[in-house]
Amino acid sequence: MKIAIVGAAGRMGKMLCALAEGTDLEVVSKVDVAEGYDKAWADDVEGVIDFSYHVAVPASVEKAAAKGLAYVIGTTGLTADEQKVVDAAAKKIPIVQSGNYSLGVNLLLELVKKTAQVLGPEYDIEVTEMHHRHKKDAPSGTALMLAKSAAAGRGVKDEFTYGRRGDIGERPVGEIAIHALRGGSVVGDHTVMFAGDVERVELTHKAQGREAFAAGALKALKWAKGQRPGVYTMRDVLGFA
Ligand SMILES: NC(=O)c1ccc[n+]([C@@H]2O[C@H](COP(=O)([O-])OP(=O)(O)OC[C@H]3O[C@@H](n4cnc5c(N)ncnc54)[C@H](O)[C@@H]3O)[C@@H](O)[C@H]2O)c1
Repeated sequence: MKIAIVGAAGRMGKMLCALAEGTDLEVVSKVDVAEGYDKAWADDVEGVIDFSYHVAVPASVEKAAAKGLAYVIGTTGLTADEQKVVDAAAKKIPIVQSGNYSLGVNLLLELVKKTAQVLGPEYDIEVTEMHHRHKKDAPSGTALMLAKSAAAGRGVKDEFTYGRRGDIGERPVGEIAIHALRGGSVVGDHTVMFAGDVERVELTHKAQGREAFAAGALKALKWAKGQRPGVYTMRDVLGFA
């Protein structure tokens, strides 16, 4: 399968190109705004993987929809309007979209949902994430996915508190909070804490490299080709859904 990588000059883009080498996925277009990279897709591209920047996603996904190409979105931090363009394109093409393509985090999403189901609102839920200093969006797409899993397990709406500051008063019962740390070269650490009066449960994932995300995204594109139009997640790809 001939593929294009959008954001090919980036940390993830480079890892994707390296991992695709020697597989049945051939990178024919390395697309990036950086100098020395392709500015257009080759005519024979059959699928696209996008790990770029949120503002780049709408135009790129619309182009894929016009050409009928399967599309994998790893880019996070999309605005509501950008997401609408993705959802509209998914009426024409299969799109896999996930804030995290690693097997471990997708398993963690299931564990968090189950834990939130079992432990009631008397266990306070705090999601923390830490990433390298270059990451541009916060909180991470993965932290949001984990918070949504916790909310789904508890059967409540996706309403979260982002950080705390000042005279905030007592913690409201049922609050789900997310906190973003930035520093150094951390690839991606996530913890979901369930803090009760007499015990604490902490579920943690630590990415040790970008390979896990890249391998998952390549797997997702192979899976997506041939699927009906729609937005799919890594849970669909892994058969958890
Ligand atoms: N879903 C996941 O599993 C996962 C994992 C890691 C990173 N990410 C996300 O992937 C994205 C990229 O992460 P990164 O660490 O590789 O970032 P990065 O900054 O190293 O790379 C992004 C690349 O996109 C390029 N780019 C920017 N605008 C572009 C445009 N209009 N067209 C083409 N290329 C463009 C930049 O020049 C850069 O080379 C971020 O949104 C990040 O949060 C997702």
